[in-house]
Amino acid sequence: GFTQLPDPSPDVFTAPLKRPAHVAADWIEPAQHAYGADENAVWDDLFARQMKVLPGRAASAFMAGLDKLDLGRGGVPDFGRLSAELGALTGWSVVPVPMLIPDHVFFWHLANRRFPAGNFIRSRENFDYIEEPDVFHDVFGHVPMLTDPTFADYMQAYGRAGWKAMRHNRLKALGALYWYTVEFGLVEEAGGLRAYGAGILSGPSEVVFALEAQSPNRIYLNVDRVMRTDYVIDDLQPTYFVIESLADLYHQTVERDFDRLYRGLGPGFTYANTAVIDIDNVHTRGTLEYHLRGGRA
Ligand code: PHE
Ligand code: FE
Repeated sequence: GFTQLPDPSPDVFTAPLKRPAHVAADWIEPAQHAYGADENAVWDDLFARQMKVLPGRAASAFMAGLDKLDLGRGGVPDFGRLSAELGALTGWSVVPVPMLIPDHVFFWHLANRRFPAGNFIRSRENFDYIEEPDVFHDVFGHVPMLTDPTFADYMQAYGRAGWKAMRHNRLKALGALYWYTVEFGLVEEAGGLRAYGAGILSGPSEVVFALEAQSPNRIYLNVDRVMRTDYVIDDLQPTYFVIESLADLYHQTVERDFDRLYRGLGPGFTYANTAVIDIDNVHTRGTLEYHLRGGRA
């Protein structure tokens, strides 16, 4: 069980993003987008493409979640049905939002076990790359992990943690933790390294790069270190952080009081995203050749 947090105070609603008129103060849209046949076909084709690369590479909790929620039953999932099924498993629901939403609203939804998901799907022309997360990234990438009880609790705790980070003015640091776990995390399993991050699992190429390429560093997660580490949002990652298990992630974050950590952090990041430092427990040291050649550019 969890306690509903109070609404964020009205003065934090002076968010830089402009909220469309039909969207409520919590940024939820009144109804799910009605997807046409072409849009449903984009979902199906994206789904089929991922299924060619994910078995044996995605975390077992992710594969189990895909299966439990039957996300490949055809077309963009209906959020009502999805929320009912997910709710029965871990108490989470999925709510439609028009675009990236302000941080405090995002935290507030997570803290109440609601996952905000984009209410649109990319066009065929943008099949390979999108700037704003769409329903495929949000639902296919994130929702399967929410069927895992430990990960489900981590995500709720992350939402609650947002308040403290805001009070300490350390949102960027907490954002780096999200980036290197929820979006780009790797986990050790009996069969080898697997990906559990949605940013990896919702696209076709990074999962192979993250797990098999010589280029990236793979470093065991250390929360203090990760929260001091810069990140890039528009290219493959130079460094991935590895957890030993989902319970390891939970112990390092949910069970730890971040107050002292925030007090010790400077306002900016200390480490470049390519850095390997003395205290690192290194899983694989990368050649960084992809980035040394200039990356995507
Ligand atoms: N326990 C942390 C705090 O004291 C919060 C945290 C939980 C951070 C889960 C990330 C994920 O604020
Ligand atoms: Fe995401």
